[in-house]
Amino acid sequence: MCGIVGYTGHRKAYPVVLKGLKRLEYRGYDSSGVALLKDGQLNVYKKKGKVAELEEAMIGKDIDACIGIGHTRWATHGEPSDRNAHPHQSANGKYAMIHNGIIENYALIKQDLTNKGYTFTSDTDTEVLLNFIEDIQKNNNCSLEEAIRIALKRVTGAYCILIIEQDNPDTIIAARKGSPLVIGIGKGEHFLASDASPIIEYTKEVVYVNDYELAIVKPDELILKNLGNEKITPYITKLDMELAAIEKGGYDHFMIKEIFEQPSTIFDCLRGRLDAKEGYIKMSGVDDHIEQLVNANRILIIACGTSWHAGLAAEYIIEELCRIPVEVEYASEFRYRNPIIHKGDVIIAISQSGETADTIVALEKAKENGAFIFGVVNAVGSSIARISHAGAYTHAGPEIGVASTKAFTGQLAVLMMVALNIAKHKGSITTDRYSELLNELEQVPEKVAAILKDADQIKSIADKYKSATDFLFLGRGYNFPIALEGALKLKEISYIHAEGYPAAEMKHGPIALVDENLPVVFIATRDVYHEKIVSNMQEIKARKGKIISIITEGDTISPDLSNDYFSIPSTDELIAPILTVIPLQLLSYYVGIAKGVDVDKPRNLAKSVTVE
Ligand code: M6R
Repeated sequence: MCGIVGYTGHRKAYPVVLKGLKRLEYRGYDSSGVALLKDGQLNVYKKKGKVAELEEAMIGKDIDACIGIGHTRWATHGEPSDRNAHPHQSANGKYAMIHNGIIENYALIKQDLTNKGYTFTSDTDTEVLLNFIEDIQKNNNCSLEEAIRIALKRVTGAYCILIIEQDNPDTIIAARKGSPLVIGIGKGEHFLASDASPIIEYTKEVVYVNDYELAIVKPDELILKNLGNEKITPYITKLDMELAAIEKGGYDHFMIKEIFEQPSTIFDCLRGRLDAKEGYIKMSGVDDHIEQLVNANRILIIACGTSWHAGLAAEYIIEELCRIPVEVEYASEFRYRNPIIHKGDVIIAISQSGETADTIVALEKAKENGAFIFGVVNAVGSSIARISHAGAYTHAGPEIGVASTKAFTGQLAVLMMVALNIAKHKGSITTDRYSELLNELEQVPEKVAAILKDADQIKSIADKYKSATDFLFLGRGYNFPIALEGALKLKEISYIHAEGYPAAEMKHGPIALVDENLPVVFIATRDVYHEKIVSNMQEIKARKGKIISIITEGDTISPDLSNDYFSIPSTDELIAPILTVIPLQLLSYYVGIAKGVDVDKPRNLAKSVTVE
């Protein structure tokens, strides 16, 4: 969480930093601030609330500097407030620092500094780290760079920090461990940010800084070192991203833009990998490691949130097609357990951002135990992509809306292809079934487009139920993970309490909630469970619950049982989740809008959970 931006070069820093903060606001929006350095004067401005509030507060301020850093915060230590906003200044006023992450041993360091007479103006771990650096610098009479290195060796936790120094007119020192940092290389200028979105309009040449690396960044020079003070040659990568991909392109919100992008993002995900006519799937990440995957004794899927739901869907699909046992783990649980990892286990890590702290640590733990890691990641070049031994990108493009939509369908499409590929090599699927599924998968983009054409129907349903205080989402089999995902989306974007259950579990408790005020969303497409789920609908109807159903075109039974229904094109039951989730994404969006929620930045959330 938290977005950080820095600039040093020939332009005015403030407009670059401000625009960057707006692009990174999805990472946190409790408060924001900038530090600008000009003529030996270090000015720090910060404000509780969204970046727009900082922008307003900056009117009339001196913003002429050519070096600056900025931060948009997702609060961890200390409530959202002006004083807890970043940047923080050191006690002697000489340094300004921004930080994304958590310093876990900050309390001990703070105690030590307090004993030495330091006082603090905020409740943050960041201010503690900065004063720790200042203290080391004073005691050792060393450079700021050296003091940072010493301090970082003594702290535990995660960080990406940018520091500017009053007496150093053009240098930003940056360091990371566990929180992302990209440096854009321009002509006589450098850009620093949590992701590439603040950088792409200036340069496509970037360096992804690795953990335990420290960067000394001047307009004309980028020096990369490890914490042992040894120089490292920066590895320059070309960004494969266009500015349009991170703009709203005429839509009111990123979320709805991203929902409507799905026909093309899924197409991009399949393109060059799947050819139904020729009857093949080519994925180098799978093909190059096929022995390992085919011979896996067990597959462990590790993820969080929506990505975990994609993992649960994959469990059903992989076990069905590949006959390999699969377990799906919440990364936050896995990392603190003492999990049993056998030689021959394969870990599939799923993440949109590729920066989720719990997932990263869980993978590092699995890797230490000798597991083979296959990453299913959206953000190219992200930490999880780099930790993985092999993998497949979802190719959904930058996802800015906090609610994950197009990344989820990309994950499902990739995982389906991975499963088919393994099954084909393993011989656990017949040729006919393989071709059937390839054909169905290839048709998904146009079927998603057909669903989106009827988005207004979902809008009417959303208007009808927007005042409900609770929702239940029920699905069976391949659609059970979609019930969970529908409930999560609605909670995030509308603040309505919602729960997802396997439809049959309803009778074991949740049915007590049912009355004439409770909307119950059934994902009731035509599949092997259809008759069973129709019975579950009868049970809800008998108790006067309001039934909203997602059904297959041509189904004549479910409409009679439903107060409202939405039809989707027919498809194979293994592929149905990629279609059934679309109306649920739309439902949460339209309910959120009807309730006046800022759907791209719902309260308390951040796009990328880079703290545990
Ligand atoms: O970037 P990741 O896929 O690792 O993120 C995992 C979750 O934080 C994420 O899916 C979260 O649940 C979304 N806000 C859901 O819409």
